[in-house]
Amino acid sequence: MAEQDLYHRHLISMTDLSSSDIGQIIETAKVMKAISERDVKKTPTLRGRTVINFFTEPSTRTRTSFEIAGKRLSADVINISAAGSSLSKGESLKDMVYNLDAMKPDMLVVRSGFAGVPSMMTEWIECPVVNAGDGRHEHPSQCLLDLMTIQEKKERLEGLKVSIIGDILNSRVAKSNMIAMRKVGMSVTACGPATLLPVNIEKIADKVTSSLDEAVDGADVIMALRVQTERLERIGFPNVREYSKLFGLGLERMKKAKKEALVLHPGPINQGVEISPEVAEGPWSVILDQVTNGVAVRMAILYLLLGGGLQINE
Ligand code: CP
Repeated sequence: MAEQDLYHRHLISMTDLSSSDIGQIIETAKVMKAISERDVKKTPTLRGRTVINFFTEPSTRTRTSFEIAGKRLSADVINISAAGSSLSKGESLKDMVYNLDAMKPDMLVVRSGFAGVPSMMTEWIECPVVNAGDGRHEHPSQCLLDLMTIQEKKERLEGLKVSIIGDILNSRVAKSNMIAMRKVGMSVTACGPATLLPVNIEKIADKVTSSLDEAVDGADVIMALRVQTERLERIGFPNVREYSKLFGLGLERMKKAKKEALVLHPGPINQGVEISPEVAEGPWSVILDQVTNGVAVRMAILYLLLGGGLQINE
């Protein structure tokens, strides 16, 4: 593969990446995906490198795929959770990161319930830090796998119309995607109850609507968001039945969508709330493709941030 570096030390926010950086990560991820399709899914590229996954919020997809990504590239991968660490004995986050730094890791992948924690950690540790989701702020690796999946299916990104639906206020996936999608020339419609839209929504979306029918009509890509029950402020959420009736993506709604529209969801799904099982498993759905591409994108992120230009055993 071409020898080129991603000139970034950390991956914290999609605001830091240019459209060309995004293209480079997706192209690298395509090479990585081919490795995962072999019988022997391993290359020695990152042999001798150590990646620490530090997750203080629950995760299935992101944590597992960062671990698989590191292992497929032959890095040594260590997983730490808050409960099993000395944070639970009262150690401060800063002390803990200083101590991790003293062990000379090559990469720290961080998920936190609080916006800004991965960015703060870049001040406390020498190695690159990757944001694996911080509070309501951002989830850049999820955004990159979403873009890869859309490009794979539509063979382009520029000019596509995407509708992002649901709990945008609490969604870090929506924030990263809105930033990046507009950078690559996609047009973004935000759709959700007024109480679950950020105050500056007009600045980060091309169109805002509270009508799901309007959002679905003519969209090339429909992204349903998980209702972030752990971050909801009760006052802003209608009851589940009402929410599902107004903003749930069901078969009836999909009759108004383009036949070739793609349906994405970052997972985990609240079945029957933001999306029905028939749509999540229906012909429009690329939800499991997103998960497959998550491994490839995370391999690309590790590879590029750890120097790129290294020999990939193709
Ligand atoms: N999409 C996503 O971040 O899923 P997990 O919380 O399971 O990692």
